[in-house]
Order: sequence, then C-alpha cells, then structure tokens
Amino acid sequence: MITFIMNGKEVKVKEGISILEAARENGVDIPTLCYDKELSSFGGCRLCVVEVEGSKNLVASCSAKAREGMVVYTESERVVKVRRDILDLLYSNHPKDCLTCEKSGECGLQDLCYKYGIKEGSFKGEVKQYAIDSLNPVMERDQSKCILCGKCVRVCSEIQVTSAIDFTNRGFNSKVTTGFDEPINYKNCRMCGQCITACPTGALINKQLKGIRPWEVKKVRTTCPFCGTGCNFDLNVKDGKVVGVTPNPDSPVNGKSLCVKGRYHTDFINNPDRITKPLIKKDGEFVESSWDEAIKLVVKSLKDVKEQHGGDAIAGLSSARCTNEDNFVFQKMMRVALGTNNVDHCART
Ligand code: FES
Repeated sequence: MITFIMNGKEVKVKEGISILEAARENGVDIPTLCYDKELSSFGGCRLCVVEVEGSKNLVASCSAKAREGMVVYTESERVVKVRRDILDLLYSNHPKDCLTCEKSGECGLQDLCYKYGIKEGSFKGEVKQYAIDSLNPVMERDQSKCILCGKCVRVCSEIQVTSAIDFTNRGFNSKVTTGFDEPINYKNCRMCGQCITACPTGALINKQLKGIRPWEVKKVRTTCPFCGTGCNFDLNVKDGKVVGVTPNPDSPVNGKSLCVKGRYHTDFINNPDRITKPLIKKDGEFVESSWDEAIKLVVKSLKDVKEQHGGDAIAGLSSARCTNEDNFVFQKMMRVALGTNNVDHCART
C-alpha cells in the first residue's frame, strides 16, 4: 500500500494503480472520455488531467501511477480551466444538434459540457463534416460526432479481436474508419456492436434504438436466451414492449460484451409466428391447450412409458437456449425422477 494526499485528504491505495483508479476507489470523480477500465490506457482526451505538486505540467491521471507521498489536486482552478478548454475545442468541432441527437441524455460529451458550463464552442472555423454511414441493418455511424477517443478502435481490437476499424489521416482530417474507408458492413466487421457500447457520443448508434429516448425505457435485467454462456443484459422496454437490448456492466459473465445475437435479435419476442401456448396433437392436428392440461399429459405419458418399459426407454434433450439453472434441473429430473442417464443437450454441454 502507498499513502498520498488527494484534495487535502490522506488516501491509502495499492501500489501500482493509476491516480484515476485511486481517485475512484476513494469516491473522487475525475472526468474521462477515452478511459475504460477494460481497455488499454490511451491517454488521448486529456480530460482526466490533475495537478501534482512539483510537476510542471498537468498529469493525465488515467495513465500516471499514484506514488507514495505525492500531493494531487483533481479540481483545482488550473485543472478546471484546461478541462473547459478541451471541452470547448471538442464542442467547437462538433455538430450542434444535441436537441435531436439520438445520444442526448446519455452522451459523455454532453454531460461534461453541462458540468463545466460549455454552452457553445468559442473556437470558430471549419467544422468536420462526414456523410452518415447507415447502409447496414444495425448500426449508424456519424463521424462528424466522433471525438477520436479511440474506445471503438480498442474494443474492436482488444476485446473483440477483430480490428475492423482504426484511425486514419492526421490532424484535422483524423477519423476512425474501416480498411479502404468502406462503409461498415458484414465484409469488414462482425457487427457485434461492441463499439456502439464503447462510444461516448452519438458517433455510433444502435439503429434498433433509434427514435427511442433513453429516459422513455424501463431497463429489465435478464439472462440471454441464445446460448448457455449465461450473459446478462438489460431489455429496454417501452410501453410494455421490448424495443432493444443494452449491456449492463454489472453482468458477472460478460460485463459490457454482447454477441451479435444477444444485442440485436429481440424481434422473435413479438413475432406473431411465436408459439406462446402449448399445442397438443388431437386427431392429427395441433390444438392449443392450457399449461395444466399439457403438463398433466406429459407427466402421464412419461409415467406410462417408465412403468411399462423402464426409465431407459426415455431420453431427454435439452437446449442451449435455456439457462444453466434450467438445464441443471432438467438433468436432475431425468436422472432422479425418471431414473435414466439418457440426457443430452443440443450443444453437448
Ligand atoms: Fe485520461 Fe482520456 S481519460 S486522457
């Protein structure tokens, strides 16, 4: 452990962690735009600067380590002035459509401009303008709103291990794009949407959630039904209908990661072809029945087979679309209640 002074208070933290991590551990808020604890340190936005006694320059707290005996100020006059200047520069080169931007209400840049009182960009001049890339079915890309924090680039290469996008050009013309600057599509990207989660602004948008304001949805945490991994996410529910999915960083299995199925395929929930009631075949035709009637029939049929031919005349096949808990209970039922080890699973797990 090391001890140092932060905003006049003594703090004790593990040796080797950054000043930013030390601040967060001690309930001190330092703003960031390019930092993500799951990604490598980038040090690009400089919003996280702090003043360290004895250091001539302000220090990027996301990449500077906390040291024994140091004296740090996270919100000094000098720090606040630099943060305001950075935000002013970013906002001066940003579309002024916050009223109608899809990200409004959950935009990192908007939140920080609000916190530091940046109402309009004071740096006049050319503003970057790029055509919106919306040719694919799931994602909209507006590079005019990109602040070059590089989170999308790092999540794509470090978490998704795809490297579908990277920085190109220099200075004012810098932007994030695909190889040969092609539109994002299944040729050059897996469409996993990890970059959408990482993006702090409206540069990358989940098209499914377009037109839905973040405060209109109720978030309901659930387990993904697409495989047995057990990822959690939040169903976004508006007017009693699931309209999309957003990751929940508190998910123990997957954190903020989601695959393409988990993130986008909610359409089956409201599909009119979906079977929502049990069907029993009567005279060669499937007829809708109540759950009571269906379960009684299953119990009776299984009992009859077991009595006449023994448990091993029965086999059970379970599904990766059930939770691990459902699958556990199913194999228990087969082994204990029906007395057979004839139990398998569509994914052989
Ligand atoms: Fe530290 Fe961006 S958060 S430089």
